[in-house]
Amino acid sequence: MTLTTQSPTLLARGIYKDYGPIRVLQDVDIEVAPGTTHAIIGPNGAGKTTLFKVLSGELLASAGSVHFEGRDVSRVAGFARVREGMGRTFQVARVFQQDSVLDNMAVAIESRDCAHGRGLLRQLRVSRSASMLDECVYFLNQVGLGQRVRERAGVLAYGERKRLELAMTLALKPRMLLLDEPMAGMSPGDRVAAVELLARISSELSMSILLTEHDMSVVFALADRLTVLNYGKVIASGTPDEVKASAAVREVYLGH
Ligand SMILES: Nc1ncnc2c1ncn2[C@@H]1O[C@H](COP(=O)(O)OP(=O)(O)OP(=O)(O)O)[C@@H](O)[C@H]1O
Ligand SMILES: [Mg+2]
Repeated sequence: MTLTTQSPTLLARGIYKDYGPIRVLQDVDIEVAPGTTHAIIGPNGAGKTTLFKVLSGELLASAGSVHFEGRDVSRVAGFARVREGMGRTFQVARVFQQDSVLDNMAVAIESRDCAHGRGLLRQLRVSRSASMLDECVYFLNQVGLGQRVRERAGVLAYGERKRLELAMTLALKPRMLLLDEPMAGMSPGDRVAAVELLARISSELSMSILLTEHDMSVVFALADRLTVLNYGKVIASGTPDEVKASAAVREVYLGH
């Protein structure tokens, strides 16, 4: 494993997670360097989602530490980690289906600017300035939804809804993106478009990205580095080539 000279954007050390007597994560280390894309992979039940939740703050680890840009966020709640610059999306896209694409986007920007809860702002219907509408269109263009602003979010196809959610997350101007199975449920065409989009976000905005993903073609197209879990333990980590060459990984995936 090569050591990075820059301090990592995200650094987790010695993560354990127990559910009662069941140990789901054991001594997991993970390090995401600035501007890089890091994927967590592994077979079903390996602990990927649990690790993702510990890193994003949805769950607290039973032991171990999580540092973001050098700050210890181990005991910081998920919503507060978002405020610190750790943007995240959810496996099921959370958009207001009855509202237009533009309104959804505006709510995300309002919540960023006012640091208030979404529900409250939605009721207040804060008046929208021209510059704010420009910003909405800017983020929607980034995800290819610039032509769909007037449509109800509920009519968007699944992959488009995921892209809207990504635009809403980008509006929070995170320095890191955490994506839990971003391609799950997408058509093959949507996957290709989403891979291109994430590659562009990563290079143009030089953002660090951490994702869990089942689709190996997605993983190898996007990730600079990987962490492979099996039964809650890291069995390999490194570049895609290093991971492909790992005997432990071949054993788990190919049985030889
Ligand atoms: N709330 C919970 N209580 C008890 N056990 C849990 C809980 N959540 C997950 N587990 C167990 O922890 C293990 C890891 O689950 P996790 O969802 O993190 O795996 P995963 O790698 O994301 O799997 P998949 O590829 O199927 O999404 C599994 O054995 C699962 O049954
Ligand atoms: Mg999972």
